[in-house]
Amino acid sequence: PNPITAAPAMAVPSKLLKPVSLTKVASRYLIHQDSLPKLPVPELRQTCQRYLAVLEPLVSDEELEHTRTLVADFMVPGGVGERLQKGLERRARKMDNWLSDWWLQSAYLEFRMPVVVYSSPGVVLPRAEFQDRQGQMRYAAKLIAGVLDFKTKIDNGTLPVEYMVGKPLCMNQYYQILSSCRIPGPKRDMVVNHSLGKAPPTHVTVVHNYQFFVLDVYNSDGTPLTVDQIYMQLEKIWNSSLQTNKEPIGILTSQHRNTWGKAYANLIKDKTNKESVRAIQKSIFIVCLDAPMPRASDEMYRSRVAVQMLHGGGSRWNSGNRWFDKTLQFIIGEDGSCGLIYEHAPAEGPPIMSLVDHVVEYTKKSEMVRSPMIPLPMPQKLRFNITPETKKDIEKAKQNMNILVQDLEMKVIVFSHFGKNVPKSYKMSPDAFIQIALQLAYFRMYHVCCSTYESASLRMFRLGRTDTIRSTSMDSLRFAQAMDDPTKTKVALLQKAVNAHRVYTDMAIRGQAIDRHLLGLKLQAIEDLTSMPEIFMDTSYAVALHYSLSTSQVSAKTDCVMCYGPVVPDGYGVCYNSMQEHINFSVSAFNSCAETNAAKLARGLEEALLDMRALLEQTPKAKL
Ligand SMILES: *[C@@H]1O[C@H](CO)[C@@H](O)[C@H](O)[C@H]1NC(C)=O
Ligand SMILES: *[C@@H]1O[C@H](CO)[C@@H](O)[C@H](O)[C@H]1NC(C)=O
Ligand SMILES: *[C@@H]1O[C@H](CO)[C@@H](O)[C@H](O)[C@H]1NC(C)=O
Ligand SMILES: *[C@@H]1O[C@H](CO)[C@@H](O)[C@H](O)[C@H]1NC(C)=O
Repeated sequence: PNPITAAPAMAVPSKLLKPVSLTKVASRYLIHQDSLPKLPVPELRQTCQRYLAVLEPLVSDEELEHTRTLVADFMVPGGVGERLQKGLERRARKMDNWLSDWWLQSAYLEFRMPVVVYSSPGVVLPRAEFQDRQGQMRYAAKLIAGVLDFKTKIDNGTLPVEYMVGKPLCMNQYYQILSSCRIPGPKRDMVVNHSLGKAPPTHVTVVHNYQFFVLDVYNSDGTPLTVDQIYMQLEKIWNSSLQTNKEPIGILTSQHRNTWGKAYANLIKDKTNKESVRAIQKSIFIVCLDAPMPRASDEMYRSRVAVQMLHGGGSRWNSGNRWFDKTLQFIIGEDGSCGLIYEHAPAEGPPIMSLVDHVVEYTKKSEMVRSPMIPLPMPQKLRFNITPETKKDIEKAKQNMNILVQDLEMKVIVFSHFGKNVPKSYKMSPDAFIQIALQLAYFRMYHVCCSTYESASLRMFRLGRTDTIRSTSMDSLRFAQAMDDPTKTKVALLQKAVNAHRVYTDMAIRGQAIDRHLLGLKLQAIEDLTSMPEIFMDTSYAVALHYSLSTSQVSAKTDCVMCYGPVVPDGYGVCYNSMQEHINFSVSAFNSCAETNAAKLARGLEEALLDMRALLEQTPKAKL
């Protein structure tokens, strides 16, 4: 039984135990969490051997030889590797998850580049069927109601546990995505979440024309407002923010984190500003009602919406209509463009996507029952006092944002020839098939392969986040080399390459991949104040971590696509959602890099997928 609903609150001596309110995380969730296995620490020898195998397609023979000797030194019995490994194993015994806090700090909170483009993913939803601002606000009202409906499940612990390959998954990330916010610091950031606090928030933030409003979405009895009520409140907000604010205060959040950390300290010296910022941070999520963006041809439209979600288009458009530190911001344009952007520190894509699936289904429901309208107070507008110094910070942020906007090339493509169906009909993993196609596309452009990152979920383990699937292998390289060589037989190489990817994926989701383990050993060395082992200062290690292809499969029932920027100056960000009969994907690159071209790689990926299908079709089934 659910202890929360089962326990009669009146029977509880109030001094000893507080009655548990429904807004508290149900203990049912905690029982589930406790039943999950802990993330293992892989064996040292296994990781070292796999590391060398991973390097083989990426570095020269001489470099590999050099690294071999460093690895052998590292692994020597009684040596530094074993000592660090023991430290890691101790850490793993003591903690719920030896990795998660280190990962949160090193991958996110100590990462100093702007969260915009460099960290926060955007999600493009299918174009909504409205054409005017009434439609926009009605859609926004339904969307808010849909998120609140999902929130009820989180709050009352009735969110169904998810499974992957038959194993239950950690659900913790669901408890981190609402009512949370990143806060900048001069050297590192932090994340606060208010969902578990004594007084959980009851408002969302709405931003329109760069002006921020507190919209209370619950009645005093704890029931959520109806769609009609939310709509009326949104209209009031709209009517009182017809003029664009002169100072797009939100654009400050797009800065380099150290710069923003300093500007933030200044900004909140003022009491009014501090209260306004706190109201945004504490809100359940943000809804951005965007001004129309520049028109685009049908072909360009998807890519245009992708950048609207990812960075807002620059200071002239909607980049100031955001608070990029906020974990969840839904974005709704007047022309039916909609989607969201999320700050990456608290969660990965999958929980966000399952929230999106729920909300999109909810918005499709026909009109709700109309409720008698009780007049509600005007939503409070958040005030900011702008000092000359903050004004300077805003100007600088605008300039930098515009440079970044100019620099980002984003291509969103619908590959309509096939989806999961084709690889499945050949008993191949659709994800492995797409990853190998990407390897082929890259190889055709550059005649070499590169270090490739694909995120793998570690949620089979308590508080698990991700590890790296390294899609580049000797098998993927041999296939890519053979594909355009008429003297080679290719189909067996394709099968081997796809299989190698599947095997690596399997190993990664079981906590046996190499990247987080190597990071752990490195961080353990830092914590132990031992000198840095040479394998971490080696060129090969730098090559291995230079991800020219940063990729992710983010699946959703909704026909949407996620997008993000490259993680290295001369690389690509590639994200895809493979549906049954088509694949939507996004490819990004930086214009300032002469060697990269997102449009070209996107075309190359389409060709590679088609060529791989043709190869399979030409081969008699008996030979497959
Ligand atoms: C939890 O929320 C759902 C709505 O999403 C509702 O159907 C269910 O009755 C609630 N359960 C409890 C125990 O409050
Ligand atoms: C939420 O944030 C607080 C800090 O405000 C932190 O102590 C707590 O661990 C977080 N909750 C969860 C479930 O991570
Ligand atoms: C907003 O303004 C429009 C146009 O002036 C008006 O028709 C509408 O009633 C106003 N809505 C609210 C909620 O004040
Ligand atoms: C994904 O592709 C489908 C099929 O062409 C299309 O209808 C849908 O709008 C696409 N989604 C996005 C977000 O572009």
